Amino acid sequence: MRLELPKYSERFGAVLLHDLQKVYEMDGGFQPDEVFSNPFHVIRHIEADKLFQIEKDLAIIIPTKNERLRLLEGVLCGLPHDCLPIVLSNSDTEAIDRFRLECQTVENYCCYAKKKYLIMHQRSKEMAALVKSGGYTQLLDERGLVRNGKAEGMIAGIMLARLMGKKYVGFVDADNYFPGSVFEYVRIFSAGLSQSTSPYAMVRIQWHSKPKIEGEGLFFAKWGRVSRISNLLLNRLISQYTAFETDVVKTGNAGEHAMSMELALQMDYSAGFSIETHHFVNLMERFGGVKVLPEDIPAMQQGVYLYQIESRNPHLHDAKEDGHVEEMIHQSLAVIFHSPLCTEVLKTEILGELRRLHIIKKHELPQIPVKYGSLQSLDFAKAAKIWDPEKHGNAKL
Ligand code: GDD
Ligand code: MG
Repeated sequence: MRLELPKYSERFGAVLLHDLQKVYEMDGGFQPDEVFSNPFHVIRHIEADKLFQIEKDLAIIIPTKNERLRLLEGVLCGLPHDCLPIVLSNSDTEAIDRFRLECQTVENYCCYAKKKYLIMHQRSKEMAALVKSGGYTQLLDERGLVRNGKAEGMIAGIMLARLMGKKYVGFVDADNYFPGSVFEYVRIFSAGLSQSTSPYAMVRIQWHSKPKIEGEGLFFAKWGRVSRISNLLLNRLISQYTAFETDVVKTGNAGEHAMSMELALQMDYSAGFSIETHHFVNLMERFGGVKVLPEDIPAMQQGVYLYQIESRNPHLHDAKEDGHVEEMIHQSLAVIFHSPLCTEVLKTEILGELRRLHIIKKHELPQIPVKYGSLQSLDFAKAAKIWDPEKHGNAKL
């Protein structure tokens, strides 16, 4: 793969936020051209070997809830062969057992493709038992099952990836219509992660565009309704501390992102659809140097590198019901508002934005986000004692 070098970077304590990089060539060729040895070159060639090395250690978590089976199969088909797909489903199991249909689809596809996979239901007793055995009970609800929500599925997925000994985790939504874009996202994950000299790294994808039908033709929108607002406010959060206005954050809501396992285990998470915005907030809280926790010092010494990379494929996914977007805006801004880093000036701006959009009323405050502490507190050795991947797919330890 060939990537543009980031043009500039913004530092927030130990966090290095790189500006957007473009994909120049999805396939960079067998060998780099000689010109790449020139230090003034603006394109980085990432050798195929390096990409494959990372993909062998990369689990791709696919959160899914009642998505079309064809789309799920398309997503699997787009993943580079060496990555391990981990499907974390919260689909219906009553009346029509959609989870059973998903299991059949994934099993069939992977049997033909000779591909390793795992699939688990987020609300299953087996998933709950694993979480409980590791002592991470904050993820469980009053019935003792993993809580509902996309973030909750993703956290359960990280746990499985770690139990499988993976070194990296990536996330790809199940409702993607273009397998080719999934392939590009994952190649971007491996190319992005390969750039990091620190074990604490994150790669976030900015879609090239999101096609929509407008009038009689297609319109390729650049920014989503949620990301437009959350990017702006995350940038405002950074500039409140640096005193310099910035536009470095371009991927405030990136559902498609990947992390090194070191970073995935170190971070805190927030519930539902606020998780992606919270990644930024939490990186700044934990590694920004405003308040230092002893357990964060090793990561802070090595640095936390964040890469934002723009795909060439457009992103076409399933249209969800109205109200979903408002809820996502509310959840995303609530994690900024309730962060100890959020200044009074920024709080006033967030309230103004949420009131302007009629998401909260005049005297209301944004909802307090549900948070989950770092997975460092999970006892993986204990969980491993009851973990049998062969009951949930064909992958072996
Ligand atoms: N396991 C699990 N549990 N998966 C879920 C749940 C859940 O409770 N709720 C939703 N999902 C799955 C969906 O099936 C889909 O595959 C993925 O999570 C994203 O959900 P969508 O409902 O399609 O969200 P979206 O398309 O509006 O938003 C996506 O893009 C945003 C960036 O614009 C999400 O990835 C957001 O998190 C992201 O911020
Ligand atoms: Mg979607």
